Amino acid sequence: MLDFSGKTVLVVGGTSGINRGVAELFARQGARVAVASRNQEKVSATVRALQALGGEAAGFSADVRDAAALAAGVTEVSDRFGELDVVVSGAAGNFPALAADLSPNGFKAVLDIDLLGTFHVMKAIYPHLRKPGASVINISAPQAFIPMMAQIHVCAAKAGVDMITRTLALEWGNAGVRINSIVPGPIDGTEGMARLAPTASIRAKVVAGVPLGRFGTPQDIGNACLFLASDLAGFVTGAVLPVDGGWAQNNCGGMSDDLASLAAKK
Ligand code: NAP
Ligand code: COA
Repeated sequence: MLDFSGKTVLVVGGTSGINRGVAELFARQGARVAVASRNQEKVSATVRALQALGGEAAGFSADVRDAAALAAGVTEVSDRFGELDVVVSGAAGNFPALAADLSPNGFKAVLDIDLLGTFHVMKAIYPHLRKPGASVINISAPQAFIPMMAQIHVCAAKAGVDMITRTLALEWGNAGVRINSIVPGPIDGTEGMARLAPTASIRAKVVAGVPLGRFGTPQDIGNACLFLASDLAGFVTGAVLPVDGGWAQNNCGGMSDDLASLAAKK
């Protein structure tokens, strides 16, 4: 059921961190995988790494804020690989900043990437999704439902992303398209953690706040994507699934205070 041979998977924002791990996991399960992000060098390097895993791979560079470029890239992928069986949408931007210090343009930058960008991805993929049968996964964050200081932009954006997921579950159900959000916990070795937990003491507090007592890995998120994309999840749509060792249930271990101190020092 987790064999994706012959399936086409697109991972938007798939050239580093969590999403790249997801792309590699689908490639290992036999899928044809396409990735997209802004930086063409990162796209090319990722495509080479995916091909080295033995399968077909492709990629294109586009900023998710540019709806036309994104739509053109998705059409290229679909022309080459056929209808999309799975789309993972995870491009995002983040930095800690208290609202008092955050410019309107700083707030807008994150809203434009995470929220408007997700809308652009949804619009670009819909004509090319396999209907029935496609599975769409939006990568959210605990900030969608756990308020955190110095994260007003991310909290607002990711809450919106989850509402996109839940709204499209209603609109796309009839076409046989399922759509769910995954909410990663703290994932080690990623840009997100480098920005939000840059010191040994914050890292230690993060782990202490995870009931399962460890950082997550990109593979943890990839495994959940495989499940949601497979027939095992055939009756699952509109779900917002934390994959976080219980971190969100524990109010993210009080990360909000650490972020406020971090941002105040800048
Ligand atoms: P990352 O390595 O920085 O990944 C972000 C990806 O999105 C990269 O491929 C980046 O490539 C691309 N990207 C960024 N801005 C873009 C834009 N405007 N247009 C197109 N592509 C863009 O970050 P990560 O830490 O692994 O996070 C991945 C996802 O997981 C994000 O959605 C994040 O909110 C979520 N998340 C992460 C954590 C964590 O612990 N790291 C926890 C919860 C949720 P380019 O630079 O080439 O564009
Ligand atoms: N604190 C406060 N404001 C910040 C900031 C910070 N650390 N970093 C950027 N900004 C503000 C800028 O000052 C600018 O506002 P201004 O015009 O009023 O000065 C606004 O945000 C846009 O910045 P810019 O650098 O032009 O944005 P960009 O579109 O080139 O990049 C970012 C977007 C800022 C989100 C960038 O960090 C990025 O590309 N991130 C992707 C990777 C990432 O964040 N990974 C983690 C995912 S969880």
